[in-house]
Amino acid sequence: MSSRAQDDLTASEPEGPATVAVTIDGRSFDAHPGELVIAAAERAGVYIPRFCWHPRMSPVGMCRMCLVEVDTGRGPTLQPSCMLAVAENMVVETASEVARQAQDGVLELLLVNHPLDCPVCDKGGECPLQDQTVAFGPGESRMVEERRHYEKPIAISELVTLDRERCILCDRCTRFADEVAGDRLISFVDRGNATQVNTFPDDPFASYFSGNTVQICPVGALTATPYRFKARPWDLEQVESTCTTCSVGCRMAVQSSGNQVVRHLGLDVDPVNWGWLCDKGRFAFEALNDDERLGAPLVADGAGGFVESTWSGALQRVVDGLGADDGSVAVLGGARLTNEGAYAWSKLARVVLGTDSVDAQLGDGLPADVVLGLPRATIDEACGADVVVVIAPDLKEELPVLHLRIRDAVTKHGLAVIELSSTDTSLTELAAVSLRHRPGEVAATVARLLDGTAGDAEAPALARARQLLDDATSVVCILGRASVAESADSVVHAADLLLASRPEVRFLPALRRGNVAGALDAGLAPGVLPGRVALAAGRDWYTRAWGELPSVPGLDAAGILAAAAEGRIQGLVLLGADPLADFPDRDLARRGVEGAGFVVAVDCFLTDSSRQADVILPAAAFAEQDGTTTNLEGRVSLVRQKVTAPGTARPDWSIAVELADRLGVDLGFDSVESVWAELERLSPVHAGITAARLGAIEALDGIVARFDPAAGTTDRPRPMVRAAATTAPTVPPVDAYALRLVSGRQLYDAGVAVAHSPHLRGLATGTTLRLHPHDLDGLGVAPGAEVRVTSRRASLVLVADADPGVPRGVAALSFNQPGPGAADLLDVSSPVTDVLVENP
Ligand code: SF4
Ligand code: SF4
Ligand code: FES
Repeated sequence: MSSRAQDDLTASEPEGPATVAVTIDGRSFDAHPGELVIAAAERAGVYIPRFCWHPRMSPVGMCRMCLVEVDTGRGPTLQPSCMLAVAENMVVETASEVARQAQDGVLELLLVNHPLDCPVCDKGGECPLQDQTVAFGPGESRMVEERRHYEKPIAISELVTLDRERCILCDRCTRFADEVAGDRLISFVDRGNATQVNTFPDDPFASYFSGNTVQICPVGALTATPYRFKARPWDLEQVESTCTTCSVGCRMAVQSSGNQVVRHLGLDVDPVNWGWLCDKGRFAFEALNDDERLGAPLVADGAGGFVESTWSGALQRVVDGLGADDGSVAVLGGARLTNEGAYAWSKLARVVLGTDSVDAQLGDGLPADVVLGLPRATIDEACGADVVVVIAPDLKEELPVLHLRIRDAVTKHGLAVIELSSTDTSLTELAAVSLRHRPGEVAATVARLLDGTAGDAEAPALARARQLLDDATSVVCILGRASVAESADSVVHAADLLLASRPEVRFLPALRRGNVAGALDAGLAPGVLPGRVALAAGRDWYTRAWGELPSVPGLDAAGILAAAAEGRIQGLVLLGADPLADFPDRDLARRGVEGAGFVVAVDCFLTDSSRQADVILPAAAFAEQDGTTTNLEGRVSLVRQKVTAPGTARPDWSIAVELADRLGVDLGFDSVESVWAELERLSPVHAGITAARLGAIEALDGIVARFDPAAGTTDRPRPMVRAAATTAPTVPPVDAYALRLVSGRQLYDAGVAVAHSPHLRGLATGTTLRLHPHDLDGLGVAPGAEVRVTSRRASLVLVADADPGVPRGVAALSFNQPGPGAADLLDVSSPVTDVLVENP
């Protein structure tokens, strides 16, 4: 098992020169100024036992397991090595008789009340307490008294179970919750011998990051309910892979037992996730094992149902149904796919189906040319900037581990966040300045921020934000589509203003859905060819490499669905896309899917959309195929197969190859490696990112794809560069009786990853309309009561709640929760969405 997935992570190498001469166990070497003895020793190859120390959290000196003898010139003394920084000429003995006696004594004390449940404890076999007792502890116990007892175990949330008897009070879980996640939901309670870890009465451990406490607990006190009694460490096999549940792309170990994925553990990679995972990424492996996974092709039986088919029969139906290569075919989706799957489908669409109407984003992101053309920042660059301007969805809800990284930069390194949003978000309490704007009007606020003409009640906040920007030498903007209830125009214009005013600004795109960055980089967007190349700029290059390309740019998701609704799309491919759930305007999505002449879905599950398909082709999911994925930074990293796909489900790239073959074209791929090799050979941003480099040990953190003119790629087309060009969008005035809607996503929703994971599905919060308490009061409605919400599209009865974080005149509604909701109210042809809210 990889040590990078264990709790005793090696500290990353500090920056700067190592200038402090120390001697540890007789070996002399140079440590970094300020480095802790325990970390310096570990980098020098000397392991000092520990429980409470964790390199990603502040040292607390709770357990005393790391006692060593230290001599700084005044004679040796016992010191906790996790609390002591190296000093010039320091001499450390970690295994002297005195140090070993101290470590032995600490273990004996820790074991006084430990229940020794090892045979039935989930941690057994990978438990630091077991391991360190064997390595450093007493041979036998002198303890004959009754041990401490608690009720065991207790569920402290849907995902985490606590066994207090096993706890050694190391303060890791409580420190993580407080210091890293900012969710102070687990704490020490009682005092003295009764001190215990627990949650607060009636307040479960409802943190999006609770699984990290399980991973870093050095004993079996905190266990993950979805993993309990599933496997033992010696049953497990693992690969190192990358989470594709959202676009942060956290590195993780995927562990399986008996051809079933049973656990994900965070891997500590410095540029991305530091070992942390969110609970959705950690536990959504349950969906892989769900009985409802598609394992055979399905063909519509003409009576509203499906019959199983052979691949040969199903593909022939697809060939007959899609037929034409006249551009009347469209492809929606691709963010579920690996880079290789996206590239193969991008090529298939252009040169076999003859269409440029391809879109991996489902109308809820920013235009592809904005995402791809803006100068890109990495997560490290955002966290290391002086100022981060956030015009994006609630990061904690949509890009959870990016939220943790930003939180760390704010709380520990002085990063100033300027947040522009329509309502309070999880970032508001961390922001140096939080500016509110009416939905659809973020560009106007950015204009006032940049031009210094503020003259209203917001002026002090604007002035403070302007000062921060003026003082900053490095500014990064996290840019995304905060609300799907408004068009992207205002956000795009805001970015253009920022870039025009501060050309040095870099952008980190807050992309929705797993590998959407890789899909866009592979050309799954209208007018875009692989490598972030515009269709016009890359036409000659890709025509020479691929064959003839569509003559004009195609349609985006909204355009595809509108054309399909009007009967202008003969064949619609849903590439892991469920527009009925994910597209912001459900009425248009419904008309589009119904209006398409022939629909083929390539998916892992039946969804509302794929149920309307003529043919469904089962696809291999995450952990069932090899390949690569790309995160929001453009970082390419490996995803690895660990288990076999159900039935005859197969990787998306091979489905594309086979379909092309039946349509008379050889795509030229015979393996996933051959797909990557072609992308690397043709794309200007992937040049030099060879499979060999990606597989090399030093590339475990991934490689950022970016254009490097010095990389011998002068013959390749140039990637697109955004020129600030948009004009200020006009927004209709608010009707005096209406509220303006905002709608973003929450971590737990009605998407397939949550809906098919038994331990996650109950966590979706449901559709509740949130209003300012005064607005709710004005309606004569009590919090928790029902209201009627009416838009141009629909009228729904929803539960309403009071939320002081929602400004007056605004209504907030989470997107894609189970049941009727925001998508029913939205009309994507309108720049904003106004709703009438009434007491029903
Ligand atoms: Fe440490 Fe685990 Fe106890 Fe938390 S529950 S204090 S992580 S031993
Ligand atoms: Fe996966 Fe995103 Fe969560 Fe990371 S933050 S574990 S990439 S879902
Ligand atoms: Fe140093 Fe716990 S590891 S006191």
